[in-house]
Amino acid sequence: MKLRVSEQDFAGLLDSDRQKLSDAWAHRAQAERQVGFAFQYFAQALARSAHSSVLALLQTAYEDELRHATLCEELAYAYADSRQVTIPEPTAFAWPLYEGVPEAMLPDLHLIATCVFNETVAVCWLRRCLRLSRTHLARLANRIHLRDEVRHARAGWAHLATVASHPEGRDALFLWLGTMAGSTYRLWAEAEETSGLPPAGYPDHGIPSHEDTAATVSQAFETMIKPGLQQLGFRLAKLEPKA
Ligand SMILES: [Fe+2]
Ligand SMILES: [Fe+2]
Repeated sequence: MKLRVSEQDFAGLLDSDRQKLSDAWAHRAQAERQVGFAFQYFAQALARSAHSSVLALLQTAYEDELRHATLCEELAYAYADSRQVTIPEPTAFAWPLYEGVPEAMLPDLHLIATCVFNETVAVCWLRRCLRLSRTHLARLANRIHLRDEVRHARAGWAHLATVASHPEGRDALFLWLGTMAGSTYRLWAEAEETSGLPPAGYPDHGIPSHEDTAATVSQAFETMIKPGLQQLGFRLAKLEPKA
């Protein structure tokens, strides 16, 4: 898609702010592309074991994330105006090994960590971004991302139910869900710290403050992730993030 922008989309921003926002969207493009490749890996690794509805969601998610990457690139160029933009190349994921879990089950856990945790948090965070956005451009970008992200989280929850229905899968989940929760908290905190964006964010432009993001991540755990896991019989105490 070709974004149509107007001067109002950049209201209240200094040149230096536009540069920071451009850089943030450029990095986001990299992250979206990277997660797109993760969905491709899930679809291939689970082709024989996942439910057909999950496989269909994974294929769509792969395509969505590549589309998101293109959208983020366009946003990077829009905020940069005529300044130069560098989109970082995606790097390979360092997937955790989950000691004690059979190798064949690792893609199941990687999918659950990505979708049940990260994509669910992303749904809540994007909803917050959309609510804050005051410019046409920010509203459009966040609306597109949010609409798709809900489906990505759903792929993880649907697959989690399948994994949890086998004794071996339940054991692995009891062992590792707490660690996944801790990693998710850490990932979001680190992403804020390394974003190069000011702690106050740019709320009008759909970027919450660091404090707001931290509160949104906690809220995602309390209102969505923990209740969802509880329904499948996983105890909350196991899910507290580890220091
Ligand atoms: Fe995305
Ligand atoms: Fe996603």
